[in-house]
Amino acid sequence: MDKLRMETKDMTQENIKKLAELFPNVVTEMKDEDGNLKKGINFELLKQELSGDVIDGEEAYDFTWVGKRAAMVEANTPIRKTLRPCLDESKNWETTENLYIEGDNLDALKLLQESYLNSVKMIYIDPPYNTGNDSFVYPDDYSMDTEEYDESIEYRDDDGNINFRKNNETNPRFHSDWCSMMFSRLKLAKSLLAEDGLIFISIGDEEVSNLRKICDAVFGESNFRNQIVVRRGAKSVQAQFPTWDKLGQGLEYILFYTRNPEYRFSRQMKPLDEVRKGTWNNHWRGTDRPTMRYPIFGITPTSGQWRWGKERSEIAVENYKRMLKEVGTTEDIIEEEAIDEWYSKQDDGFLDLLRLSKSGKPEHYVPPTGETLLNSSWVDLLIGSSSEIRNIFGNTVFDTAKLTPVIRRMLGFCSKDALVLDFFSGSSTTAHAVMQLNAEDGGNRKYIMVQLPEETDEKSQAFKAGYKTIADIGKERIRRAGEKIKAEVEEANAKLKDGEEPKKVPDIGFRVLKVDSTNMKDVYYAANEITQDQLFNMKSNIKEGRTDLDLLYGVLVDWGLPLSLNHETETIEGIAVHTVDHGSLIACFAEHVPETVVREIAKRQPLRVVFRDSSFSSSPEKINVEEIFKFLAPNTSVRVI
Ligand SMILES: C[S@@+](CC[C@H](N)C(=O)[O-])C[C@H]1O[C@@H](n2cnc3c(N)ncnc32)[C@H](O)[C@@H]1O
Repeated sequence: MDKLRMETKDMTQENIKKLAELFPNVVTEMKDEDGNLKKGINFELLKQELSGDVIDGEEAYDFTWVGKRAAMVEANTPIRKTLRPCLDESKNWETTENLYIEGDNLDALKLLQESYLNSVKMIYIDPPYNTGNDSFVYPDDYSMDTEEYDESIEYRDDDGNINFRKNNETNPRFHSDWCSMMFSRLKLAKSLLAEDGLIFISIGDEEVSNLRKICDAVFGESNFRNQIVVRRGAKSVQAQFPTWDKLGQGLEYILFYTRNPEYRFSRQMKPLDEVRKGTWNNHWRGTDRPTMRYPIFGITPTSGQWRWGKERSEIAVENYKRMLKEVGTTEDIIEEEAIDEWYSKQDDGFLDLLRLSKSGKPEHYVPPTGETLLNSSWVDLLIGSSSEIRNIFGNTVFDTAKLTPVIRRMLGFCSKDALVLDFFSGSSTTAHAVMQLNAEDGGNRKYIMVQLPEETDEKSQAFKAGYKTIADIGKERIRRAGEKIKAEVEEANAKLKDGEEPKKVPDIGFRVLKVDSTNMKDVYYAANEITQDQLFNMKSNIKEGRTDLDLLYGVLVDWGLPLSLNHETETIEGIAVHTVDHGSLIACFAEHVPETVVREIAKRQPLRVVFRDSSFSSSPEKINVEEIFKFLAPNTSVRVI
């Protein structure tokens, strides 16, 4: 039983705990005067977290690399960018709740901060592994000093193209640049995770140790759950040219972290594979393996651990007999592996039974057949292959695709309505897995994919097939996979037997939003430097070529509203008025808005209203609008852009 503390709290440690929730990376271990370890704060790092400039000083107490401070600044630096809707490339714009964001994920993660703060239940990412050959982009140059760095934050050339750069081993900051790239993105990703959110990150031998340390710093060590292993396909292993200085990598990893150390997921099972199922009936007897024979075993009911031994309890004997019955043999010689397997098949019900039988009330228990408890070895699954891509496109338009079964296993940890994010989405395997699982179990999971419009090589199959960028491949995969899933559901529904419920066609649409420069002219941000007269003489503070829909999405991003909300446009007295989510927001960006239209909008009492600043040609006109809202819709928040 826990003892009452009977003393007041150590407030310093409490404060450290609070800081750790905000900035886990600043917490370090130090020794007190008696030499005992206690938690402390790395003030240098904390200072950096609270400053917009790179602070000089030793980077010494924790896992560090060249450019770490710049990466922290990078994550915290605001950007003047927006998300522009692209209806042509979207599917089912009106009804879908899925998003496809095209652009650099650093920008995208920043733009999503307000709308999706603490909202994402699962993130899966498959970043470049830093093999030296990745088709990989490092737009952020962490090697510069602060001044150069500030100038280069806008890392597009004069034509607005991103300055792509591959990372290869000749770069003296080969690992550092990769660490910086991941650190800033993971920091931003963390704040999108819900309290019960989780993140899975694919990684290879090259950077797994660095990534774990980065994740410990970003999420806190207590949120580390597992380093899962998955199997690489034979082809991929062969493709790693044997250099004879090391073995080919037959496995790779998925780092699994949570947002909150208190989080507990539901019991996860996986099917027993065929070979293992076979061991039940024949192979496991082990008559040909005398060294693997043991007389009997016992199970510790509370921990579930099994052991061999003389100290066999009654429960152990009962247990043993039950097992023999379940596996259909009277042999009293068991192979260790078979017992392992048998134990892993047991679930909580079984352990409850052991407790009950101890108290003399045994109950009938049927262990699940064909299933086993999931552990961190996922070697039953192949992590990647181009087979699914070939199935969909007829050829290999993308050759580093992961496979849907791995992602579906991760999705099993979350609720059926989870919002799922993948910000290195490549060919959109994650979106495909979400649609598949929704089709199967009637779930309503939604996704956000982010992908850079990285250009495909002119010699590649993708380029020849007409896909100029990886984002084009990702979008087309969702379109094709979605149609296939829809056809399969409809086909199954057409063959229903009496009493069978038809399946729902999942949401196979997606809204395409592209990262672009802000909708606003520079003057918008420098209003203080401009006189009122100059402002009134200026035709508009909005860039030419930006549509009402661009402005609407700019407002959604800025006001922190979800980008999947439904919206309708109507015309009132010839003026276009946009209503989002039945009144969460009404927007009117007309050059001039007559008072009657302002009144009509106010009468509807939306939660928020936004107009174009220049719509009202004078200050008195603006004051009048405020008065109208005060009178007709006092709770409406009114803004202008
Ligand atoms: C290994 S692939 C992901 C493959 C994906 N899991 C699949 O199954 O198709 C990594 C992807 O990240 C993209 N990428 C790299 N840097 C990026 C960035 N800064 N922003 C967005 N995407 C990026 C690359 O273009 C590449 O398509």
